[in-house]
Formats: sequence, structure tokens, C-alpha cells
Amino acid sequence: MPKIKSIHHVAVVVQDMEKSLSFWRDALGMELHELRDVPAEKSQVAFLPLNDAEIELVMPTTDDSGIAKYLTKRGEGMHHICLEVDNISEMLAQLKSKNVRLINDEVRKANDGKQYAFIHPESTGGVLVELYQI
Ligand code: CO
Repeated sequence: MPKIKSIHHVAVVVQDMEKSLSFWRDALGMELHELRDVPAEKSQVAFLPLNDAEIELVMPTTDDSGIAKYLTKRGEGMHHICLEVDNISEMLAQLKSKNVRLINDEVRKANDGKQYAFIHPESTGGVLVELYQI
């Protein structure tokens, strides 16, 4: 059976990265490891690691991306929780067998080689869940 190993990251969608960092970095005192533009996702992402997990702040950089539409519709807030799994293909098969609604039916591959897929909030209690296999 595939196994969930850890909470890999929690992603928060923000309107204004500097304003958001004034809370997460400056007020809470968390370390900003990296602030990066991700043109493929039309967003800017801040990574604030904490032990073996991290907080990711995601700010859309255009008006037409999925994340920009999410921000317009729902405002700032929790976007998704990412769980690391030891075998993502087996996990997707297991979820399908249990009639869990998936956003990605097949495993997707990021530029850095990690594999991921999203599970629809309808099946999770209203939280978008991302699965990662490193
Ligand atoms: Co994520």
C-alpha cells in the first residue's frame, strides 16, 4: 500500500507578496529561503522552510492564471496542503478505486523531476490536496 510520509508544504495565496512577507518573515520571524518567479505558473512564490516542511506564499503575476482566478473569486487564504507520498502512481490508483475525485487523473511531472497530482476539494472536506513524490 502506498504511504503518506509527511506534510511537505502548505500553500497560501496572497495578493501582495511584500505585505504578506511583513507578517510571515518579519513579524513571525520565519526564514525566507527563496523568493522566485515561476513564469510557467504565472506566479511568484516565497518558500519559508520549517524543519522538514515549508510554508509557500503564492502570488499571481498575471490576471489570467488559475491562481489569479482563485484569488479574485475567493480572496487571500489557504490554497492547498501538500502531502509527500512514497508511490504517487499507486496512491492515485488507490484513490480512484475509492471513488475519490481527482483533478489530475495522471501523475504530472515538474521541471525538477518531482511528480505531483492534485485531489479535488469535493472529496477532501473542502481542502485542495496536492500529492508529491520526490
Ligand atoms: Co504545492
